[in-house]
Amino acid sequence: VAAEKGGYKHFMQKEIFEQPQALSNTLLNRLPLDGEAIPLDLPFTDRDLADLTRIHIVACGTSWHAGLVGKFLIEQLSRVAVEVDYASEYRYREPVVQPGTLIVGITQSGETADTLAAMKEAAIRGARTLAICNVMGSTATRQSEATILTHAGPEIGVASTKAFTTQLAVLTLLALKLGEAKGTLDPRLKAELLQGLRELPAHLERLNALEPKIVQWAHRWKDATDFLYLGRGPCYPIALEGALKLKEISYIHAEGYPAGEMKHGPIALIDKTLPVVALMPKDAHREKTLSNLQEAAARDGRILALVTEGDTGLAGIAEDVLELPAIHPWLAPIVYAVPLQLLAYHIAVLRGCDVDQPRNLAKSVTVE
Ligand code: G6P
Repeated sequence: VAAEKGGYKHFMQKEIFEQPQALSNTLLNRLPLDGEAIPLDLPFTDRDLADLTRIHIVACGTSWHAGLVGKFLIEQLSRVAVEVDYASEYRYREPVVQPGTLIVGITQSGETADTLAAMKEAAIRGARTLAICNVMGSTATRQSEATILTHAGPEIGVASTKAFTTQLAVLTLLALKLGEAKGTLDPRLKAELLQGLRELPAHLERLNALEPKIVQWAHRWKDATDFLYLGRGPCYPIALEGALKLKEISYIHAEGYPAGEMKHGPIALIDKTLPVVALMPKDAHREKTLSNLQEAAARDGRILALVTEGDTGLAGIAEDVLELPAIHPWLAPIVYAVPLQLLAYHIAVLRGCDVDQPRNLAKSVTVE
């Protein structure tokens, strides 16, 4: 087993560091040259895609968070309305599936019982079906009309890492593809996003240099009883994912929230013992997030912020700042997820938790 971990202490750590390679593999042959169409090998014609009027995304756990980012991207790029549901809810709520609906099941394993059942439920009601999956030949890929594979390689750690970031990359491609089919995609934006995707693996390599600072954060905060994670726009689901990672492997209670919603509840929890992890890339939401963080700081919240390189706007507000590479704001989720994985990982290790096999959790939940 030690050899399988390739010199790392845990599979999760290995898988976090494999992300540049996992993304390169996932994007291989899928980034077209200028002016060419996105080469996603789907059994749908452009007409089929153009005829889609709504998309339902179903998933569980970390894959559900990918779905929320997917909603943002698909709606922005293709103007097709997207609903995202927990698979365990969707399957029992007699979903309204109108003509022109595509159900997208996101599942690393392709074996999660609720996700499979939710997809079936939609198919029975007339939806076209697409799986985004990391395991070729899994049930999800067999029961769907179409599959887009993430090529993350086997993921052993129970807490998902590289499967998540590769799901985000695939969802970006899917959103671009839908935008092309719908004729809503601005060619300049397409070129920018494709260029951003090309640069992603290199950006993620650079994140390794941030680990010492994350280890410091872990030492300082390993005994906290609660964490709050805040983000907006496409980084709101990353706040949810950061909180989930911490809960799963360190057993510290954590909540992710859209920063703008903080004033409707979580702000009551803020005091000098509460670490607030804030995602604030330079994007259209930055000023709003900044003012939310000022409110948190005014209540003695201890702010740990992830910002774009060179952004000094949180001086005097945040206790510490991690500067991340500048990237197209819609690709920021992929970059910002990684330090949060590392933070959860190091806190869990310092607390002596079994990182790869957290208590009560299973890698894939094949029963209801
Ligand atoms: C379990 C795992 C999670 C995973 C979820 C969905 O709860 O512990 O890491 O996100 O299942 O798994 P799937 O294979 O469907 O993506």
